[in-house]
Amino acid sequence: MDDQLQHHYMQLADTYDDTWGHRPAYVDWMADGIQRRLNPRPGEWIADIGAGTGLFLNRLLPYATTLTPVVCVDPSAAMLGRLPRDPRIHPLQATAEELATGRAALPCDALDVLVIKEAVHHFNDLDDTLAGLADRLSPTGRILIVTLPPKLTYPLFQAALSRFADGQPVPETIAATLRRAGLTTTVAIDEFPVAIDRDRWLRLVAGRWMSVLSTFSDAELDRGLEEIAEQHPEQRLEFADQFAFILAQKNGI
Ligand SMILES: C[S@@+](CC[C@H](N)C(=O)[O-])C[C@H]1O[C@@H](n2cnc3c(N)ncnc32)[C@H](O)[C@@H]1O
Repeated sequence: MDDQLQHHYMQLADTYDDTWGHRPAYVDWMADGIQRRLNPRPGEWIADIGAGTGLFLNRLLPYATTLTPVVCVDPSAAMLGRLPRDPRIHPLQATAEELATGRAALPCDALDVLVIKEAVHHFNDLDDTLAGLADRLSPTGRILIVTLPPKLTYPLFQAALSRFADGQPVPETIAATLRRAGLTTTVAIDEFPVAIDRDRWLRLVAGRWMSVLSTFSDAELDRGLEEIAEQHPEQRLEFADQFAFILAQKNGI
């Protein structure tokens, strides 16, 4: 993880959970969608890569035990520092790349369930990293990647939308990469409706709540905020938060 990204998540860690605090229904919907697709069984080894603050773990934790805790992998100490204190959580400060190459050690021989939510766009080498992670799966292992599609419908300024799209892998490309790693895949697109007060949205953007916003200077961000304000005079903003759910499993399940 480069210094700029490390800095971004250090700045964001303290307020990350509050960003979603006003949308508990969304957190439930997402946590439920992850659990339903991965269908964990008690005692299976689960890892969350790019786990951040563990905000979406609540439907996975009931399947973990103190002997088989959820391994929460993230390179940001600040984000990991916000994980709930729970003996069923095993924090591991590492990148996905370090895990994939074996430079970071897992507390188990193989993983049964692996979730990567809104972190895959940070991986430097998608092919090698996903292939390495696929190698860490047990014979019944499965991976769920949850990611935003490149083309967002968020009320952002145009330069941010374009830069986001440039850096975001296409869901079908991710699925093809996982198939090359020997897994079978399905891709589903699902969405959650968002209605947010315009001033709150502008505050989130000003606080650079998405990592792409940290790549703009203060002056560029100010211009972007003006652009949003001009294009959205309405007090309440409504849009669909769309996600790709890429499920990959070992053949023969
Ligand atoms: C947008 S946050 C998502 C956090 C959490 N999964 C969630 O949905 O709330 C992205 C996370 O990916 C982590 N990250 C960045 N680069 C990474 C890498 N190379 N490998 C694993 N995680 C990474 C960041 O530190 C951050 O916590």
